[in-house]
Amino acid sequence: MNSKQYYSSKGSYLKEHKKYFSHQQLKKDVDFLISALKLKKTDRILDLACGHGRHTIELKKKGFDIEGLDFSNHLLEIAEEQARQKNLKINFYKQDIHKINLQKKYDKIFLFFSEFGLFDAEKALKNTAKILKDNGLFLLDCDNVFRVVRYLTKHPRAPYQFDFIKMELKEKRKSGKGVRYYTFPELERFFNNNKLRVFSIYGNYEKEKLNINSKRMIIVGKKVKGFTGDSSTDSNSLGITRYAAQSNPSSSF
Ligand SMILES: C[S@@+](CC[C@H](N)C(=O)[O-])C[C@H]1O[C@@H](n2cnc3c(N)ncnc32)[C@H](O)[C@@H]1O
Repeated sequence: MNSKQYYSSKGSYLKEHKKYFSHQQLKKDVDFLISALKLKKTDRILDLACGHGRHTIELKKKGFDIEGLDFSNHLLEIAEEQARQKNLKINFYKQDIHKINLQKKYDKIFLFFSEFGLFDAEKALKNTAKILKDNGLFLLDCDNVFRVVRYLTKHPRAPYQFDFIKMELKEKRKSGKGVRYYTFPELERFFNNNKLRVFSIYGNYEKEKLNINSKRMIIVGKKVKGFTGDSSTDSNSLGITRYAAQSNPSSSF
């Protein structure tokens, strides 16, 4: 089953992830997004790979100006139906992240609870940066490879194995391509290549520091005009401090 099928009405995505979809979890996620991205009611926001729209809808309910994008017909139908039932007008775009075609630009974009390793990372980030305004913020939330590897080391009978040459997680019984996992420096390079300067790194939705056991790896980048990604760039001249929010979560962007 390829990823399109996995997220379709015949796939098992919603069933497999049911335990993550509680109202309590949703509240935590949304509080985190508001805080980490410093969401304002005047921001134009995009929930990228929004799935069945749980965060899109919750943020719209709170009065934020948000839209969703996903490539799954099935999940978007659920999102649209939920929005209709709640009398919320939300634009959901059915598009592939590798071929985004939107005329608008956004102040804030998030790719939350993502299976980023399924994407062509360079293409996905290039397309995302294109629809982000200058000074806009992008949040990427993905799994922490070190935690996954530790888990597999402790559970050798798990039906997965990690290919350290390709940095791919594969199902033991299947051959072929697995899910690519990235370390922070690799992702920072992709961010930088697209004028995204990394500000904050978190290890979970409680905004704790990233470490080897962290459940998530969450990176917030700001699109900075003229930023070349060259680490020798004088960040003071750009008016920014690297990883400001990690050392001082209350600092402003
Ligand atoms: C793990 S789900 C997360 C969904 C949502 N962000 C959430 O937290 O509920 C990953 C989502 O990525 C979407 N997706 C996967 N590949 C995609 C692609 N190439 N373009 C757009 N969306 C994609 C899937 O349809 C699915 O909705």
